[in-house]
Amino acid sequence: MTSSPHRASARAHPNIAFIKYWGNTDNRLRLPANGSISMNLDSLCTETTVSWDDTLVVDTLVLNGELQTGQPLERITEHLDVIRQLASIQARAQVISDSNFPIGAGIASSAAAFAALSLAATRAAGLELSEREMSALARLGSGSASRSIPGGFVQWYNGQTHEDSYAESIASTDHWHLVDVLAIVEPGHKRVVSSQGHQSAHTSDLQAARIAGASERIALCRRAILERDFPAFARVVEHDSNLMHAVMMTSQPPLFYWAPLSLTVMESIREWRENGLRVCYTLDAGPNVHCICIGEDADQVRSLLMTLSNTIEIRQSGPGGPAMVIIDPAQVKD
Ligand code: DP6
Repeated sequence: MTSSPHRASARAHPNIAFIKYWGNTDNRLRLPANGSISMNLDSLCTETTVSWDDTLVVDTLVLNGELQTGQPLERITEHLDVIRQLASIQARAQVISDSNFPIGAGIASSAAAFAALSLAATRAAGLELSEREMSALARLGSGSASRSIPGGFVQWYNGQTHEDSYAESIASTDHWHLVDVLAIVEPGHKRVVSSQGHQSAHTSDLQAARIAGASERIALCRRAILERDFPAFARVVEHDSNLMHAVMMTSQPPLFYWAPLSLTVMESIREWRENGLRVCYTLDAGPNVHCICIGEDADQVRSLLMTLSNTIEIRQSGPGGPAMVIIDPAQVKD
């Protein structure tokens, strides 16, 4: 590697899990206790530029314009170490990352972050990985990032080893016009980050039962997506989200991610569905409610949400594409 920067940029979307990942069989490798299914979110994205530079003595990270130190930087450096080893390089990297959505609020920001970072950093180092290899690599940074590498509707196979724990598309972006009307009820940082939560999942008496039923829920969800069967989809998605939150609430220490307004939105959604609207809810490790609906019903879901509280902020996304390189290093003049 020469002393001039080898640079590449990549864009990735966060994803919303319909069947959740919660708990690992191997925390270091982030091998999940169960497989999961998700959809990428097209209107939300993270763009990351990585420049490998022999003149740097440490990695640097600028997140949404702010220079990072401590834990966020350490996590990135750890991931860059894996890539340095893969590419047989020693150079440090400058990482600049920007997202158009609030970080750490139950939108899987680490998913888009590590998907974009993995793609930009490997490409800048001159590595060409297959989609499967890239997905497994992104998983080492953040489990859900494995699902932000392929496009559209995605399944992550839990696997037994690093190589066989990866995600792939089960249906393309145009297969089904589902929309995630995200009700941001609290834009602040979440209380306990997912990485910590995964490690205490096993302390809940309910985790074993949740894992035992996961394959069946994966099969039901996968079929509902492939057959565009919204009632079946809504049933399994809400059930799976409730199961994960039951595990969270019964872990030691207990994790309560819901806010009072989250519960109001969830109850209203069930009522709206009984009245014919094709919408269901799912929540990640935060209080914000992802209202998943058929595209034609999205405007109505949006206006109904506004009637619940004037403090709710709304972001709307359809199915998003795969992680993409946005500037090829070959085009960057040294
Ligand atoms: C609740 O992928 O954020 O959003 O692997 O520690 O980075 P780490 O965790 P992360 O966990 C996501 C948990 C979830 C459910 C899901 O997205 O499947």
